[in-house]
Amino acid sequence: MSTAAIALGVAIATPLLIKAFARSKGPARTTTIPHADERVVIIGASSGIGSELARIYAERHAHVVLVARRMELLQQSVQELAPAASSIHAVQGDVTLPEDVRRITLESLKALGGKVDTLIICAGIISVLPFAELAGIDSAKPAVSESDYSHLLPTDPDKALEASTRIMNVNYHAPLNLASHFLPALTQTSAAGNIIVVSSMAGKVGAPTRSIYCASKHAAQGFFDALGMEVERTGVHVGIVSPGTVATDLRQSAVDLPKADATSSTETVPPMKVAGTKKGAMTAKACAEGIVRGSDLRQHEVIMPWFYHVSIVLQIVSPSLVRWLAKKKYGYL
Ligand SMILES: NC(=O)c1ccc[n+]([C@@H]2O[C@H](COP(=O)([O-])OP(=O)(O)OC[C@H]3O[C@@H](n4cnc5c(N)ncnc54)[C@H](OP(=O)(O)O)[C@@H]3O)[C@@H](O)[C@H]2O)c1
Repeated sequence: MSTAAIALGVAIATPLLIKAFARSKGPARTTTIPHADERVVIIGASSGIGSELARIYAERHAHVVLVARRMELLQQSVQELAPAASSIHAVQGDVTLPEDVRRITLESLKALGGKVDTLIICAGIISVLPFAELAGIDSAKPAVSESDYSHLLPTDPDKALEASTRIMNVNYHAPLNLASHFLPALTQTSAAGNIIVVSSMAGKVGAPTRSIYCASKHAAQGFFDALGMEVERTGVHVGIVSPGTVATDLRQSAVDLPKADATSSTETVPPMKVAGTKKGAMTAKACAEGIVRGSDLRQHEVIMPWFYHVSIVLQIVSPSLVRWLAKKKYGYL
């Protein structure tokens, strides 16, 4: 058999094996926790995927807490979804602030009668500039003779470091801190506690113009993968969701574009053209449905859409092909 045929066989068989092993052992969670009894906290529920998650859980009559900074958007959802949900509350907070995370935890527990079954960490921000452009690295600059070599330094290294700090705070440190605050309640008050983290395919493979974002999602994946193994024996399940592109306004939160990271919906961010096509993007609704299914089935890994399983396999079998595909998508060929 040729190497190509073996590679093809592996590429087809492995996603099926991944799927088979992705689900944790034990009874389906929906039998342990009926929909109407489930107590869910959604972090990053004011827009995009998070607001669709809020809708699904409310329509399943769950007890829901919605968390984000833009309180007016959360309140709109509360008003709209209150007739369907068993109970629904909004809690305003910035997850990068330790004092807010403590308050979010206590207020969520109060709203849910002291019990929580599902924590979904969906808050996230992105970066969209090539790293060299952000840091002010001009490779085309003509060499000039200076004795101190300062002409060879980047012009904006602080800008790159600041963007990285901001994105790591939201996408990695905040999820870690939220997990730490909610774990005692998930362990002690739920029959089958779940932490679901919305990562990204950017946490699995690299992509040009997304270097800092990829770093933050890789960090979150590593942490939650390991945490899942540590807490499994306490009955708490950790699931990591890696969607491909989803049609939301995430790009407008880019830390490296002007007026990024808006703290108020009244602050308007002008639409920007950024690298990377949204062609074939999933809807936020479809993504949220996949996340809820993954939580119900207690899957360790949810990769969406399904064909991205192939890129996980190709990453091992043919990394250069994956790099070629990523470069093509972001216009780097
Ligand atoms: N869109 C995609 O193509 C895509 C693909 C893969 C993965 N994802 C991931 O999916 C998640 C949701 O993104 P989305 O696409 O739905 O974008 P989105 O509409 O911009 O949603 C981001 C959410 O995060 C919240 N958030 C951001 N910073 C926060 C902070 N400091 N404190 C509290 N909440 C904060 C935002 O609320 P406030 O601004 O009101 O605080 C908002 O509710 C992210 O983790 C993202 O990385 C998205």
